[in-house]
Amino acid sequence: MNRLDGKCAMITGAARGIGRAFAQAYAREGATVAIADIDLARAREAAEGIGNAAFAVQLDVTVQASIDAAVAAVEQRTGGIDILVNNAALFDMAPIVEITRNSYERLFAVNVEGALFTMQAVAKSMIARGRGGRIINMASQAGRRGEALVAVYCASKAAIISLTQSAGLDLIRHNINVNAIAPGVVDGEHWDHVDALFARHEGLPPGEKKKQVGAAVPYGRMGRAEDLTGMAIFLASAEADYVVAQTFNVDGGNWMS
Ligand SMILES: NC(=O)c1ccc[n+]([C@@H]2O[C@H](COP(=O)([O-])OP(=O)(O)OC[C@H]3O[C@@H](n4cnc5c(N)ncnc54)[C@H](O)[C@@H]3O)[C@@H](O)[C@H]2O)c1
Repeated sequence: MNRLDGKCAMITGAARGIGRAFAQAYAREGATVAIADIDLARAREAAEGIGNAAFAVQLDVTVQASIDAAVAAVEQRTGGIDILVNNAALFDMAPIVEITRNSYERLFAVNVEGALFTMQAVAKSMIARGRGGRIINMASQAGRRGEALVAVYCASKAAIISLTQSAGLDLIRHNINVNAIAPGVVDGEHWDHVDALFARHEGLPPGEKKKQVGAAVPYGRMGRAEDLTGMAIFLASAEADYVVAQTFNVDGGNWMS
């Protein structure tokens, strides 16, 4: 407990799912948490559920002015950001011959550009403050290898692993540690959407893809958001001082690297 005492964490896409669980876990460890999401109503709900240690911030990671305004608002309220979790992302799928430019552009705008330019804005703020910091990017097992129907999302998460390596090497001279977490299959609203898309593309009954992917996890079930919080706390804590530019699989054994 209290491993993040006195720290300020900004978590993008934290209105629900994994980001929300991270916000709860960071607050339990003593941090003040900015729940930064495009869905302000749900971000407020999530913050209220946590109490005084959390507050909501409007953020669209695809709009530079929105990133700048969110970072400024969090700085003003807390004195400065110590931890950024780049967690906001979109999912879509289609066979190669059916991928639309619109789907590609939306996914890359949120998953890659959004993560890069939020990381840049927060890194600038951390450098100016001179106290170092932690940046945790949400990658995926999808970034470790391709999938026949998931080319664009997989490519966006491979880009996150690569950006984590480059940013990790560049920013460590400012005492900013950049690392990533690669989850496997984590149940929640994200996977409800994934399951519905697989049902359409593979002609499966609703819920069947979740059953299949859960049964295939070596651990024996799909992940839960809470399965990831230990790694998220560790990477944000002083114990991870010497950990730089890595992507950690937290996936029940789905992928080994
Ligand atoms: N759930 C999984 O199985 C799984 C597996 C591997 C990796 N991941 C990754 O973990 C992260 C969290 O996943 P999740 O399951 O909680 O996702 P989710 O879809 O439940 O939540 C994503 C959040 O991002 C927000 N968001 C979307 N667009 C935004 C934008 N432009 N600006 C700001 N916020 C925006 C949404 O409002 C939502 O609150 C994502 O990066 C995802 O790719 C998830």
